[in-house]
Amino acid sequence: MIGDNIKFRSGEVLTKRFDTKTVHFQENDGEKNKSKAKPIYQTSSFAFNDLNDMEEYFQGGKDHLYTRYSNPNTDDLGYGVAQLEGAPAGLATSSGMSAILVGVLSIASPGDHMIVPLDLYGGTYSLFQQEIQEWGLQVTVVDFKDHKNIEEAIQSNTKLLYAESVTNPLLRQENIEALTKFARNHELHAMIDNTFPSPYLIQPFTDGADLVVHSATKYIGGHSDVSAGVLVGTEELIAKAKKKMINIGANLSPFEAWLGCRGLKTLSLRMAKQSENAEKLARWFKKNTGATVVYYPENLSEKGNGAMVSVDLGDDYDIYSFFESLGWIKIVPTLAGVETTVSYPLNTSHRTVPVEIRQQLGITPGTARISVGIEDSEDIIEQFSKALEHAKKS
Ligand SMILES: Cc1ncc(COP(=O)(O)O)c(C=O)c1O
Repeated sequence: MIGDNIKFRSGEVLTKRFDTKTVHFQENDGEKNKSKAKPIYQTSSFAFNDLNDMEEYFQGGKDHLYTRYSNPNTDDLGYGVAQLEGAPAGLATSSGMSAILVGVLSIASPGDHMIVPLDLYGGTYSLFQQEIQEWGLQVTVVDFKDHKNIEEAIQSNTKLLYAESVTNPLLRQENIEALTKFARNHELHAMIDNTFPSPYLIQPFTDGADLVVHSATKYIGGHSDVSAGVLVGTEELIAKAKKKMINIGANLSPFEAWLGCRGLKTLSLRMAKQSENAEKLARWFKKNTGATVVYYPENLSEKGNGAMVSVDLGDDYDIYSFFESLGWIKIVPTLAGVETTVSYPLNTSHRTVPVEIRQQLGITPGTARISVGIEDSEDIIEQFSKALEHAKKS
């Protein structure tokens, strides 16, 4: 357990507070030219002086052999997020989806069983329903709001509980401490998708999760210019996941990893401003509009409640007119960039989720998911005010 220190692989221990870690997680790897920014190791492979030199890699004496196995930039991203989550090990992968896949496969094998909640990102739902089950892993979907449902779903071959810390798109907060305690009491592993709050707001590993996964495409990268995933957790599980990643070929490219690391350095600044703006926007929606429901977490963390706000505009507004009137606010099927954007979960992120589950969760034709950016909050509110005015049914 790393605790509050940045402990480099060389053994050097640097400092301890969160914001400092976000900018000092990269190890100085002794580059001859001492560049201030870490170089991009844009190489598919590493070279060796002779066969003994190469053998040293396999004996653990050298860090890198082949970029599909590891690379200084991908190591940095995995290790950087691990530092922020308080986990001893981390792994960067090609996407959030592949990080979820190798994480699950490090815990459960064909014939094993896992229990997952109703409210999952649609892509994760499809991975579990369409791929994982085809490979012989059993998956049961239950409502996690009541742990009794989970208890009833446990079988002799159950290995894993999987959940999102703050759910996509309706922002339900999972009680991580209670869930991981429940998992431990039943000798199950707990794996948490912490994409929405990012480690800035919540650190599920320190609350007892065995593995924590991020779509680093979102707040870790933060600029909508990289597709990446990060998995952090115990040394043992990350070593297993890394083996899967290598065999599947789900590695991240050095440049994407480098972009992810650059994004990570401003995580605290971005999340603080985005959460502040989101808080104001959520309050504004609640007070000043007839929006039927505003979804925004409460008491998520001392640092804020996150940068996502979802609204259900109900029957009083025409959702198509609302989306047409967003002006400079882009409509995108993603989230977490520095710009405010809006998505329509019904036919993007949750398109593959069965209608009954969507209805049970409350993902309706009037649901819009807002990812709040770092702009001036007055401008954000002004634009949503215009959009609602235009969309109001007479
Ligand atoms: C909560 C959550 N987890 C995982 C993913 C998948 O990440 P990626 O698109 O980087 O594969 C997403 C994507 O939107 C997500 O919202």
